Amino acid sequence: MTDRPVVYVTRDIPQDGLDALEERCEVHVWPDPIEPSHEELVARLAETEADGLFCNVADIVDAEVMDASDSLRTIGTMSVGYDHVDLDAAIERDLTVGHTPGVLAETTADLGWALLMAAARRVVEAHQRVEADEWKTWGPTTLLGRDVHEATLGVIGLGRIGTEFARRAAGFDMDVCYVNRSPNEAAEADLADYGIDAEYCSLTEVLERSDFVSIHAPLTDETYQLIGEPELERMDDDAILVNTARGEIVDTDALVRALENDWIRHAALDVTDPEPIDSSHPLMEYAPEKLTIAPHIGSASVETRSEMAVMTAENILAGLDGERPPYSALVDADCR
Ligand code: DGY
Repeated sequence: MTDRPVVYVTRDIPQDGLDALEERCEVHVWPDPIEPSHEELVARLAETEADGLFCNVADIVDAEVMDASDSLRTIGTMSVGYDHVDLDAAIERDLTVGHTPGVLAETTADLGWALLMAAARRVVEAHQRVEADEWKTWGPTTLLGRDVHEATLGVIGLGRIGTEFARRAAGFDMDVCYVNRSPNEAAEADLADYGIDAEYCSLTEVLERSDFVSIHAPLTDETYQLIGEPELERMDDDAILVNTARGEIVDTDALVRALENDWIRHAALDVTDPEPIDSSHPLMEYAPEKLTIAPHIGSASVETRSEMAVMTAENILAGLDGERPPYSALVDADCR
């Protein structure tokens, strides 16, 4: 027993974040690479009488988790998204909730482009062919993909990540259109500095006009299954859909039908619903020819994950001091 505040961390995290917490707190870290089950998390929080919870997108943080320890005062999620945290329950219990906006925007945008390029130029298929000893000659019609340069890019959600994603289109001389809750004039001005004239459109226009459609919206009641069967049918049959936001924004069953019936050319996903998915999922039948997939690694660079861990620790330390976290999910979600 110590009088230092106790913080429970649901997974091994980058050392800088751990160091920041350990300077002031007694820290308990869940030891396995797979997250604790809901039941296990509740038990660990109760057993350690945690004052703070350091979690991530794989943890469901609901009222039961929040009630597990009588001392819990603050939650910090090592993510920009907070759809896995019940904010209403946190408000009812007067808990602070921190998250990590901004710091991962560029890294996630980079991954979006990695997926877009890999899908357009069939990089995964090409790699597999070489690995299988199928590289016998230079083929005039082998592995033909889609040009990215001078194509039209449609962005769904022009927030920080969407803007960084769109900014990278300047190097490819692309036309950019976007849909957002409302026109984002500040982002449009930023993009104009890079020679991009981002045009605010309806979702329908974005889907119908774009060669590449990339999703960067947060998961909310409004964006849940925003891309379903009618939306996928509206896209060009040669178009590529990229999702680095949340799997639940796309109706997975509809996406399976879209790939099966060639309504679109390819889906490149860093997030899925359900998540994780395994190789027996119907979606996986279409990899790699029509599906490029990564296991939710948008923010996974050494530098960014380290910064996210430190930011999360700082949010938690502020909460333990009875202060509003520097990056409060409750403020950013307009709850406070
Ligand atoms: C987030 O931050 O919300 C990502 O999904 C994980 O980095």
